[in-house]
Amino acid sequence: MTKPRERARAFCDRYGLRVPILAAPMAGACPPQLAVAVAEAGGMGGNGVVLDQPERIAEWCEQFRAGSAGPVQLNIWIPDPPDAPQQRIDDALQFLTRFGTPGEPGPAGPDHAEQCEAMLAAAPTAISSIMGLFEPDYVRRLKERGIAWFACATTLDDALAAQEAGADAVVAQGMEAGGHRGTFDPETAESTSVGLFALLPRFVDHLSVPVIASGGIADGRGVAAALALGASAVQVGTALLRAPETGIAKDWAAALDGLAPEATVATRAYSGRLGRAVPTPYVTAWNEPDAPRPAPYPHQRRLVGQWRRGESHGLDRVNQWAGQSAAMATEEPAGQIIARMWREAGELLA
Ligand SMILES: Cc1cc2nc3c(=O)[nH]c(=O)nc-3n(C[C@H](O)[C@H](O)[C@H](O)COP(=O)(O)O)c2cc1C
Repeated sequence: MTKPRERARAFCDRYGLRVPILAAPMAGACPPQLAVAVAEAGGMGGNGVVLDQPERIAEWCEQFRAGSAGPVQLNIWIPDPPDAPQQRIDDALQFLTRFGTPGEPGPAGPDHAEQCEAMLAAAPTAISSIMGLFEPDYVRRLKERGIAWFACATTLDDALAAQEAGADAVVAQGMEAGGHRGTFDPETAESTSVGLFALLPRFVDHLSVPVIASGGIADGRGVAAALALGASAVQVGTALLRAPETGIAKDWAAALDGLAPEATVATRAYSGRLGRAVPTPYVTAWNEPDAPRPAPYPHQRRLVGQWRRGESHGLDRVNQWAGQSAAMATEEPAGQIIARMWREAGELLA
């Protein structure tokens, strides 16, 4: 097994990083200035484009490139099948009436194929997937253009499938992670929840591609531990949420302050896909014994959007995601956070 620093160095050399830390793609919470700050600090900037129209994807990349020539990843969800039992949708809709009355149904979301084309055209360093795998033809086109494919996985079976499909690196996402869990089969996200300390060596022992560790890493100790466990790099999300460049809503940022690991909640209340969040009254209500199971993705997300456009009360204005290391997130500028994490890790790995 190679030494942690050598492994990280090889990854950095291959993708043009000075520091083996990637900003997690966080749909709705990764403005270009955050990616610029991370890339200028030597890491890799990121953007989750699942909610973005193709024009916005191109514009975001222009804004990033105006601020940095550093490496950047664009990330998208692989869509789930849209069919769902009507009863599940009706039950969720009924429960949502506790939170006021709905507004108009929203317009259809962006077209996945068009988003994928926009990502290719933007030619980032890497394009990453979550919730599944790209089609073989898209993988071929990525490789033709020299764009790396990073695939998020939460189980070894999913990780092996990603490697077999041509992923250049696999993101091992532990259950500590803030935001959505990338389990390929949406129904098994709860039953397959594994912490990063168990997941990472399992991936490293069975995969030949580099592994990027993600979930709960928020300071240099986490970075050093992940590299010691076999990761080639780490990907951090929650640690950057309170940075001024991220600019999340004030109530969300305040909720992260001192939030205990055990207080974060795994919930399907926002989208129908499982994700780790702040225990807001809205999120907590859906975890009460009398609550129905939220509708499957994308139906729950569509319903929540409709309620947000209506006369709602007690419904969070935005999804308040939080990983189990939320209390370690600081208000430092993002570049300082990345530099500090790597400096601290360096001391531990020396
Ligand atoms: C606000 C937020 C939004 C996220 N959005 C995405 C996304 O669009 N795509 C994705 O692959 N992962 C997304 N994630 C998950 C992250 O990529 C990553 O797995 C997670 O942040 C790592 O755990 P940590 O938050 O403990 O650092 C999101 C996470 C957060 C906190």
